[in-house]
Amino acid sequence: MNYIETPFNYTGSKFKLLSQILPQMDLSKKTFVDVFCGGGSVYTNVLDKYESVIANDIIADLVGIHQGLLNSDTIVDSTKSLCPGKSNPEGYAKLREDYNNNPSPDKLWALMLSCTNNMIRFNQKFKFNQTYGDRGFSDATQKKVDNFVNHIRKYNNIEYLSIPFDQIEVNSDMMIYCDPPYGRIKEEDGSLGKKQISEAGYNAFWKKEDDINLYNFLVNADRIGASFMVSGVLHHDGKTCWMLDKLIKDGFRYKVIEYDYNKVSRKGDKETTEVIITNYEN
Ligand SMILES: C[S@@+](CC[C@H](N)C(=O)[O-])C[C@H]1O[C@@H](n2cnc3c(N)ncnc32)[C@H](O)[C@@H]1O
Repeated sequence: MNYIETPFNYTGSKFKLLSQILPQMDLSKKTFVDVFCGGGSVYTNVLDKYESVIANDIIADLVGIHQGLLNSDTIVDSTKSLCPGKSNPEGYAKLREDYNNNPSPDKLWALMLSCTNNMIRFNQKFKFNQTYGDRGFSDATQKKVDNFVNHIRKYNNIEYLSIPFDQIEVNSDMMIYCDPPYGRIKEEDGSLGKKQISEAGYNAFWKKEDDINLYNFLVNADRIGASFMVSGVLHHDGKTCWMLDKLIKDGFRYKVIEYDYNKVSRKGDKETTEVIITNYEN
């Protein structure tokens, strides 16, 4: 199966896991909701399977890039002109400062293309703080952009949103896919811990109550009659994710996914179990 690769090299992208994840989606629903769409590899590859598709992420400028690319080539041109290029750390520092003072989707995309490992990273004050990666808008990027826009512009069933996941209005005709940031760990006494099971550059957006809110969001979706799939790391380095563990203990079905992240997120040789959990049988 040839999947469309989005032009973002997004941290935690599900691109390499699509062949395991997509066949498990419930295709009987009308609307697919990619609740934590990130770089968009999941929603991009189900556009022909659902009447309508909603792609949401809390990072408004990230959603702005997706939307910009759907509508025209303007964002490609402005992003190219904003990229500082190679051997230009001062230009990068200026762009980053400019973005943090006056954010926009094209500036964020130029930063993502130019920073270390293309890894989006925000501090606790939601300021972009990734270092310069001595890279930019390459021929390979252009190829991915062309593939991506040629694909998404064939459909007029995409709606973009940028709201916290728990504000999404769920109905029974939805297939809800959740690929949240790393969840918080389960303490030895079974309680919800403070630390997330691993580190990602968008962890700043994951609030203290979000593990409980996501658990409640999914249980509510199930009660309403929607289908859901949540993917994530159940175990990492001897730790267990509280939220995923609780859903499995509740009796929702789960399947272990072959872990295939790149070396950046593999975190050495620490043992990791990645799962999908669904409230339906496939
Ligand atoms: C693991 S990534 C998703 C990756 C995506 N599936 C892909 O293939 O590229 C998780 C995403 O959740 C977003 N996020 C974090 N907190 C959120 C919230 N409260 N509501 C919605 N999105 C959130 C982050 O910005 C990040 O892009």
